[in-house]
Amino acid sequence: MTSWDIQPSVDALDIVCAETAAPPTAMVVFGASGDLANRKLIPSLAQIQQRGLLDERFCLLGCGRKAYSDEQFRQLAYDALVEHTSDIPPETLKAFTEKLYYLSGDYGAPAFYEQIKETLARIRDKHGITGCNVFYLSVPPLLYGSIAEQLGAVGLSQKEAAEPAQCARLVVEKPFGRDLQTAIELNDILYKWFDESQIYRIDHYLGKETVQNIMILRFANAIFEPVWNRNHIESIQVTIAETLGVEHRASYYDKSGALRDMFQNHMLQMMALVAMEPPISFHADHIRDEKVKLLRSIRPFEMDSWNSCFVRGQYGPGRMNDQNAPGYLSEEGVAPDSTTETYVAACLFVDNWRWKDVPFYLRTGKRLARKTTEIAVTFRQVPHSLFGSVGLDEMPPNVLVLKIQPEEGISLRFQAKRPGSKICMGTLNMNFSYNDVFGVEMPESYQRLLLDCMVGDQTLFARFDSVEVAWQLLTPVLETWKEAKTPPSEYPAGSETFPEADALLTTNGHKWRRLSAP
Ligand code: BG6
Repeated sequence: MTSWDIQPSVDALDIVCAETAAPPTAMVVFGASGDLANRKLIPSLAQIQQRGLLDERFCLLGCGRKAYSDEQFRQLAYDALVEHTSDIPPETLKAFTEKLYYLSGDYGAPAFYEQIKETLARIRDKHGITGCNVFYLSVPPLLYGSIAEQLGAVGLSQKEAAEPAQCARLVVEKPFGRDLQTAIELNDILYKWFDESQIYRIDHYLGKETVQNIMILRFANAIFEPVWNRNHIESIQVTIAETLGVEHRASYYDKSGALRDMFQNHMLQMMALVAMEPPISFHADHIRDEKVKLLRSIRPFEMDSWNSCFVRGQYGPGRMNDQNAPGYLSEEGVAPDSTTETYVAACLFVDNWRWKDVPFYLRTGKRLARKTTEIAVTFRQVPHSLFGSVGLDEMPPNVLVLKIQPEEGISLRFQAKRPGSKICMGTLNMNFSYNDVFGVEMPESYQRLLLDCMVGDQTLFARFDSVEVAWQLLTPVLETWKEAKTPPSEYPAGSETFPEADALLTTNGHKWRRLSAP
């Protein structure tokens, strides 16, 4: 039995594109001197401009605790742009930074918000902006509620705006709450001042091109839907494996852990896209209705035997890139006796007609051997072997892999005859790589999300009901872990696998895929 790879040839691509440019918008970024703003938000806005999709009247007011003048902030932004963009000429970058302004202050002080209001009015006037204000909360989650309150108190939330053009939108980073109760409390505060239609809960995975492609693949092709169900699919694996550790984010991560950081949002959102029913249209609420319906159908976990459906781990010392790598407990800022999980794996079932008894295996972890984000759909084995000596065990099932990172693409594994002997077959992987076919770097997901937010399209943002259902499902797990006497098991940094997670699959006769397998 052999296996070999083939590349598809793409002779003609009939490309149909639809894109809407942003209307004139004023954006206020809280936490503007922070890492997210520098690495992602400001570079993504410059890229949107480079693609001709940012209105020339756009302006941005950065807010933060650090004291900078407009000029200093522009210089910082320019340096970040040089570091994080590659294809934009320096004079265009310089021109972009002229649209940036800065205000420092104390997030807890009402006077700061009066100042924001005045400054915003002034720069909107200067730039001739008649459209929306977008408030982006790139600050620690504990501040979300109070900033929203203060914006509302000074009249910037525009909940009842008579003029649609004078709307206000609030962009909130994940995690939205720490569990069901805190998510509801936070949402109640936001709803005092903002409607659901004004709230954009970001999950940056939804902005990734290949995650968006899940819907195109499923619903713009006729061949998948008839087999996309329990009759033909044996199991589905969703993997987000990272090589990075906790980096410099221990103060946040040590209080969150993998379940809150990755599972509650990115993993469940990807699962929902793969498993949801076809929406009646591409309208934001029609898609979000289907996703929430799917999340509601996930079978609640039996908490008496939670470790038969959920496992957690924490990386210990190990080897990465031929070098010693420290364990989680030795990372700067991590409590020496921390029981925070850096790895989670789970086996979920969806109790509906389409998926009854099909296991969905989800795993995510830090400090693993290779970066791999993918969704692998394994089809059922053929029912009977026609090929004499070749048994069913020697014919691996078809697997469709939606590759999200690091190499975006799609692969399909199937059996084919090898020339020569009468019966000689092997496993063939048909690989489609975005990079080979389109030859362009994948746009940063924040480009998509920031543009959609300015345009007012909430399709790729989480609606509160889906956040709530996800917490309903996971809060009992968090509570059980809190009470658990045993800490998470250790896995060495650089591991390919986490043996305790194997048991989730072996009972069903399945195996985890190798990280970055074809
Ligand atoms: C973030 C998490 O949401 O996603 C990080 O907070 C994680 O802990 C990151 O490293 C992974 O994102 P990506 O796009 O690099 O896969």
